[in-house]
Amino acid sequence: MVSGAPVCLDDFEKHAQATLPKMVWDYYKSGAMDEQTVNDNKQAYSRWRIRPRVLVDVSNVRTETKLFGDRISTPICIAAAAMQRMAHPDGELATSRAAAKFGTAMCLSTYSTTCIEDVIAEGKGAIPYGFQLYVYKDRQVSESLVRRAEKAGYKALYVTVDTPLLGRRLADERNVFELPKHLRLANFDATPSLTVSSLLDRRGHLPGQNDLPITPTEDDPAMMNIVLSATTDTSLNFEDLKWLRRITKMKIILKGVMTAEDTELAVAAGVDGIVVSNHGGRQLDGVLATIDALPEVVAAAKGRIDVFLDGGIRKGTDVFKALCLGAKAVYIGRPMLYGLAYAGEEGVLKVLELLNDELKLAMALAGVDSIDRLGPQYLIHETEETFLSQGFLVLPNFLSRAEVADYLAHARWLADNVNIEGHPALEKTLDHNGQVSADCLKSQKQLASDGQKEHETRHGSLIGQYFLDSATDIRAFFEKGAVNKQKKLVVKKARAIHKIGHALHYKDPMFAKLTYKPAIVEIAKSLGYRRPALLQSMIVCKQPHIGGKIPVHQDSTFVFTDPPSALGFWIPLEDCTEENGCLQFASGSHINTPVTSRFVRSLKEGEEGITKFISIDPAWSREYGPPDKDIESSAIDPRKKGSKYRARPHQDTIDTTSSSKPVYAKQYTKAGSLVLIHGNTVHTSSANLSKKSRFAYTFHVVETSLKSNVRYPPDNWCQPEPGRELEVLYDLDLE
Ligand SMILES: Cc1cc2nc3c(=O)[nH]c(=O)nc-3n(C[C@H](O)[C@H](O)[C@H](O)COP(=O)(O)O)c2cc1C
Repeated sequence: MVSGAPVCLDDFEKHAQATLPKMVWDYYKSGAMDEQTVNDNKQAYSRWRIRPRVLVDVSNVRTETKLFGDRISTPICIAAAAMQRMAHPDGELATSRAAAKFGTAMCLSTYSTTCIEDVIAEGKGAIPYGFQLYVYKDRQVSESLVRRAEKAGYKALYVTVDTPLLGRRLADERNVFELPKHLRLANFDATPSLTVSSLLDRRGHLPGQNDLPITPTEDDPAMMNIVLSATTDTSLNFEDLKWLRRITKMKIILKGVMTAEDTELAVAAGVDGIVVSNHGGRQLDGVLATIDALPEVVAAAKGRIDVFLDGGIRKGTDVFKALCLGAKAVYIGRPMLYGLAYAGEEGVLKVLELLNDELKLAMALAGVDSIDRLGPQYLIHETEETFLSQGFLVLPNFLSRAEVADYLAHARWLADNVNIEGHPALEKTLDHNGQVSADCLKSQKQLASDGQKEHETRHGSLIGQYFLDSATDIRAFFEKGAVNKQKKLVVKKARAIHKIGHALHYKDPMFAKLTYKPAIVEIAKSLGYRRPALLQSMIVCKQPHIGGKIPVHQDSTFVFTDPPSALGFWIPLEDCTEENGCLQFASGSHINTPVTSRFVRSLKEGEEGITKFISIDPAWSREYGPPDKDIESSAIDPRKKGSKYRARPHQDTIDTTSSSKPVYAKQYTKAGSLVLIHGNTVHTSSANLSKKSRFAYTFHVVETSLKSNVRYPPDNWCQPEPGRELEVLYDLDLE
């Protein structure tokens, strides 16, 4: 119990815990199963960090905004929460008065303990009210609720879509929760067709309740909750929204949408808005936190409908973050109930005041004076922060075990089956049809006449051409120790392959699927890429005993753009440890290590097939500023507008002097993780002398948006097929 007046929302919660009957406290506070989502809803806000601006005039911070065309004093609204009279005798009436006094919106639950008409009457028309609807098997029951709400003056209908069945709330099950006998689910008093006994089957059981042998009577209001749950229409789908549209002119808001896919369907169905909500973690446990689902929903909505959010809001900074990420307003559930338990109307008012004051303070300290100025530029996610400061990031469990098994099996199959006929590294060089290639024959003839050196150049260029052609093909490259001086394989083919690439992202359906995984698209978008081209997709095998060391390098050298914009996606398909040659990073090296060389193909006539490293052309050293506003979104470091990506020529190369020799941190990664690698990060990996292989799939993206002023040079080694463009992951330029 807190002594003194509450100073934050947590204080109200502590008070409620200390004063409410246990059964009521448990009902309000608890969530589904082991409450992972209840907790994550709150904790997820702290994973978003605020990027404050200073020296902004914040002498007049305003939180007013609009909802359904009406002015409200704050974007903090009241969520639908059932049975409020358990918290205070005035229940929903007190909440309604507080919301009206504060000038914010209120949503009333279907399962309120005060009826639709009385709650709105208490607000005297001062604020926009919404009614939350469950759709029952008996559509007439729902229809009569909708008509009553509209007639009473409610502006919006919040259709709860995350509750086809009730989630399991263990505390309620243990307590055998029931509505106290003196209270009623007031909206059903006037529904004569809905009686408990009318819903029972012939044996006196509730259908769909696992034959729960309950024999409620019509006079037992406490049973109504269970009864109604059993009668929710589990077949409800997007098509049914047409029916709602027909019967009401109220705004239709879907409450409980968490994905881009459902947002698209909601827009197509013609709804007016969406509440990103997981029912306060009371339905499906393990669902992601609402603040983490918000960006994808906002992106999918594309401003066509309003997006709101509820779940876990306990501080002004939580509201600030949700609004920055695109929520038009937020709703509070439990904090309102705890305010009610504290002091009825006064308590709810205090909760609203406190939270809104905290929001104002957050806005002032972040340098924002009005709600419409809030935006994503004020936030950064901790994973992005880590990536931008380290230059790499390991995201564990990116793939499921089953996916890892499938991709690994396919990678091994490729190693076994990739065509090595005519491989220039092997003695007998055959062309793709299995014929000895004319080129090679020529080079062998030359061997006698022109001498060894010339042959090597010629043979080198054959390998070079084979390598260059791999940009648009699936080709094999051998481990050094797999081929002897006589150019013969000394181990089995599948064990000889060092890597297979470099066009798996569109030539191999399995790895194409992995490359275009929605989560990859989301990551690229969140890092600001507008039109990421895909390059250098490959399987790296690091075979047992002979797996070669990868020298110290920066990926931007191989997938250079001007200015550099490369990002590597590296997905281990087997556990990587020191033993089998895990990645090693010079953490933070991307910040101060310029890219000073590029790996190119010679474009000179007569030099076909020649690849080389060249120093970066000083002409490219010009300082890139944003050409227009759009570059802001394409800069991979939003704080520095691409400054980390400026190519600086002929400056210090990777520093290997003893005083500032980079320290390479060995990065152990589990199979199925995703490692993001900034193109400028200096990294390496040691040889694999162990008896385990180290298969990984990797590819790169670079920015190719016309709005980004990033250029992909025509002499980069990796080029598209003649007449084609590089494949892209997605293209925001088209929007
Ligand atoms: C005790 C309680 C009862 C609720 N009753 C309903 C309800 O009847 N209908 C509904 O759509 N959501 C209901 N919700 C979910 C809220 O509308 C809202 O999604 C959730 O409370 C937001 O999370 P928060 O409590 O962390 O603010 C309820 C939530 C709680 C805590």
